[in-house]
Parts: sequence; C-alpha cells; structure tokens
Amino acid sequence: MTETLPLPHGLSTERDAGPFAPPSQIARLREARPVCPMVFPDGHEGWLVSGYEAVRQLMADTRFSSRQDLGVIHVPYETPGMPAATEPSPQMPGLFIAMDPPDHTRLRRKLTGAFTVKRMKQLEDHIVDIVERQLDELARLTPPVDLVKEFALPVPSLVICEMLGVPYADRENFQVNSAKFLVRDQELDEKMAAYGAMTTYLAELVTRKRAEPGEDILSDLARDDDLGIEELTGIAFLLLLAGHETTANMLGLGTFALLEHPEQLVELRTDPALMPGAVEELMRYLSVVDILYRYAAEDIELGGETIPEGSTVVVSMLAANHDPRRFDNPDSLDIHRKARGHLSFGHGVHQCLGQQLARIEMRAGFEGLLRRFPTLKLAIPADEVKLRTDMNIYGVHELPVTWTETAG
Ligand code: HEM
Repeated sequence: MTETLPLPHGLSTERDAGPFAPPSQIARLREARPVCPMVFPDGHEGWLVSGYEAVRQLMADTRFSSRQDLGVIHVPYETPGMPAATEPSPQMPGLFIAMDPPDHTRLRRKLTGAFTVKRMKQLEDHIVDIVERQLDELARLTPPVDLVKEFALPVPSLVICEMLGVPYADRENFQVNSAKFLVRDQELDEKMAAYGAMTTYLAELVTRKRAEPGEDILSDLARDDDLGIEELTGIAFLLLLAGHETTANMLGLGTFALLEHPEQLVELRTDPALMPGAVEELMRYLSVVDILYRYAAEDIELGGETIPEGSTVVVSMLAANHDPRRFDNPDSLDIHRKARGHLSFGHGVHQCLGQQLARIEMRAGFEGLLRRFPTLKLAIPADEVKLRTDMNIYGVHELPVTWTETAG
C-alpha cells in the first residue's frame, strides 16, 4: 500500500473529524500501517510515520536527520538554489532546529543554561505578573473581544521579548512577518520577503547588542566570540519565532477546547491543583506542532519497514499523540489523564528547549483567565471559529469571547 497524500504543503490537514481529532485519512493510515510509504504531489517518494511507538523511536534516532526540517520556518524545497529533495537541505546559520549533531550540539549547548528548570522557576513570579497585567487590560475592554489578539498572543510575545531583549514595541515586525512565514501556501517570494525583513531587523539588533550588551539572553550570546553575527541572527530568529507562535496557539486553541468541555472547565476552576496535569493533557490533545519533517541519512528499519536512505519522512505528532495503542480514548479530552509521555514537545536531541517556559506560561495563563473571567464564553457558535488549518502550527486565527462580569 502506497498512499498519495497532498504533501508537503498540506497533509490533508482539513479537520474532517472535528477541530481536535486527527484528520481521518491519517488516523486510518496509523491503524493500517503506522510507518507507511507515500508519494508527494511532485512525484517523489516519502514516508509517513504516524504510530506513537514508531514516532518516538524515530525522534530518538539521529540517523533521521533534521536537515530536512526547517521546522516552523519550513522553507519549501522548490526554493531557488535548494538541492533535489533526496539531499539534505543546506544549513541556515544559527537555525539549530534544522541541524544535526555536532553542529546542533554546539549551538544548543550555548542556550541550555538560559532555559534550565531552575532559571525558569526564578522567572515564574515575573511571568505571572505579565499574565495578570494582560488580564487587567483585557478586563478593561468591552466584550466581545478577540482573545488571540488581546491575550493569547501578547503574553508569550511579551515574555520572550523581555527574555531575549527584543523591544516589544517592535512587535509589528516579527508578529506580522512570522505569521506570513507560517502560512503553508504563501507565495515563496512573500515568504522570503518576510524572512528577509525579520532577519534584517534582528541582524541590526544583535549587532547593537554585540557593541553594547545588556542583561538579556541575546546579549549573553553576543558576548560569545565563537558566534558570528549571522549565527546570532539565526538563533534570535528561531527563539523569537518558537517562543511566541507555539504558546500563543496553545493558549488560544486550549481556551477553545476548555470552553467546549464545560464540566472539565468547572473542575479546573474549582481546583487549580489540577492545572499542571490539565496543561499536559491539552498539549497531548491539541498537538499544535502537528507535522515535522525528517530525512533518512541511511537505510533505517522502523516499525518492521525499511525506510531507504534519502527518503523524506513526514512525522505526524498529532496522530501519534492520539494513538489508541498508547492512550485510552485518545480523541477525548480528560484532564485527569496521565498525559506525560506525549510527544508534543518533541523527543530526543531536538526536544523543545523552551518547554519549561511554555508550561509556566500556560499554567499561569489558563489559571488567571479562568479565575478572572468566571463567565467567559464564546461570542460566536463553535463551528464558526476559524481554525488555522493553513499554517504549520495549528490553532485558531481568532477566538471571539464574551463575559458578563470579571472577578477582582
Ligand atoms: C523545539 C514544540 C514552546 C523554543 C520544539 C519541538 C517541538 C516544540 C515539537 C521539536 C522540533 C523538532 O524536533 O524538529 C513547542 C510547543 C510549545 C513550544 C508545542 C508551546 C506550547 C517553545 C518556547 C520556546 C521554544 C516558549 C522558547 C524559546 C524551541 C527551540 C527548539 C524547539 C529553540 C529547537 C530545539 C532544538 O532543535 O534543539 N518545540 N515549543 N519552544 N522549541 Fe519549542
């Protein structure tokens, strides 16, 4: 069985089984053949990996190169100057999400100290303050309002800007451009223009930091002579993009999911001790980073199949996280479930560097929102909520909400 899937610019991402379940075509393939050959629309052959065990094994195996994967950035293969799809992508300086060891190891190591559990714990109170201030602003507005614009996007943007030392006032540049970047079918020249605008801005910023370093992560990196300006720019780009788009979509889509499960929402509001577990379950259930790409650097056995060297491998994190062989009733949201072990932050050497930060932001974000807005509800019918099926990160474009009163 070889499937032809409409890839790579849209793995039949239409949510035909509802806004939170994997597309039925992928769920069907996961049951029939969790490691399955497929053909891309341009005729080149690849593989789709959708079963939990196979995905976990793949992510832990660095013979599956990340040089196929420009991650959320996803520069398409038909970019002028890119090699044929059977060769690894050229590396872009600093973008270590798309590098293999030892290049990946060298750059990631420069950042691990800034993102340790301990460092994140120290930041927790400050993150809670940022969330509360944003909720104050929200409470001043007259509903209905778009929760994405007024809360889900500003919170992670404010946090990552402050940590990196990027002026929040310049957010137009990176929020607008990164959104353009993430649209799958955006014209290539527009994608490149957006990438150019962001990197030009960031190159100037890191150059200034090299001359006059301050108290922030990019300044710390700029003090390191081992890193060139191009590399610094690439790292800044990766952190800025990964640091706000993902969490923003979790906050937006997660609120939508909770509003669609009112009994669980009431439980969470009554017992905030349930929040850490609920955040893990929302991560599993929603899998906002649903598709990753890898490239087989040699012939590799996986799940009883042989993936030949040179294959493009499409990894469905959403399908893996909804695999009934791993999670009972996987398509149901259950905040009491032990969801740890989900793959939503990835697995292996590229496992999300910002995961502790993201957890703190989500716990504080959901907890504050439920506490301060006890009557929060959707301002439009659920089936009219615009889902981001056209983007590399799943979520909602807008979430119109309303409320009748706020708590102090
Ligand atoms: C890597 C998801 C938040 C920074 C990853 C990967 C996933 C992921 C799936 C692995 C990609 C791969 O293997 O190719 C998420 C989700 C988030 C989130 C769902 C929010 C809920 C953040 C935040 C930061 C961040 C807040 C802040 C800096 C990174 C970086 C990498 C990464 C730098 C690359 C790590 C490497 O290649 O070694 N993330 N992430 N992420 N994430 Fe996150």
